[in-house]
Amino acid sequence: MTPGIRPLVAGNWKMNGNTASLVEIATMDAGFTEALQEKIDMLVCVPATLLFQASQMVMNGNLRTGAQDCHAKASGAHTGDISAAMIYDAGGSAVIVGHSERRADHGEASQAVCEKAAAGLGEGLQTIVCIGETEEERKAGKTLDVLKEQLAGSLPDSWEKGELVVAYEPVWAIGTGLTPTADDVAEAHAFMRAELVNRYTEIGNGIRLLYGGSVKPGNARELMAVANVDGALVGGASLKAADLLGIAAAYLDI
Ligand code: 13P
Repeated sequence: MTPGIRPLVAGNWKMNGNTASLVEIATMDAGFTEALQEKIDMLVCVPATLLFQASQMVMNGNLRTGAQDCHAKASGAHTGDISAAMIYDAGGSAVIVGHSERRADHGEASQAVCEKAAAGLGEGLQTIVCIGETEEERKAGKTLDVLKEQLAGSLPDSWEKGELVVAYEPVWAIGTGLTPTADDVAEAHAFMRAELVNRYTEIGNGIRLLYGGSVKPGNARELMAVANVDGALVGGASLKAADLLGIAAAYLDI
């Protein structure tokens, strides 16, 4: 938690789900109760194929929808890509950029991530930029160096619209059931906060910092209570409404 920052619990469905899975969106929307809405924001980043339908389903609710990547350009000859404008047009209000799976699978370096982040923000989207060290980097004691470099390279200097959110996702904690200790998360998040305040002065204190990597209903309370952790970016456990809502519920008694 950071005083004055409203937490965000965000799901990332990755390349999972089809139209039959949309029932989970309906259940999440229904389960995002007023008591939860008072405390947190909730978002689900679905595959692009489901974005329009998912967005239609939550039109009257408070649950928001988003995408998992965007191209840096608004339109053009980029087969297979989608732009931030298309995400907005489909009803999405958020986009994840620079996820470690995209950095690894598609060779996206921080410079490319920065351009995508600028595109998402330029379209007024809540833009979640992911950073995090690999297991090798962690073992070599380079975690904070990696975070410093990725923050410096992946975030635009300024933006006029949208909201920049940063997610710390240690690569070795993603989908493994492993999580850093609360102390390790606290160290990483305090470091990120200091870097952001240093770069963006007063607005650095208001940027939401999410933790992601094997967040589950059973560990959410401990992780979300850590200083400078302003929410979660949830992969596997966001596929089921009961699990994502279980994570959100941690905020009812933090
Ligand atoms: P898991 O919650 O499945 O570990 O995934 C985390 C993640 O990569 C979210 O973006």
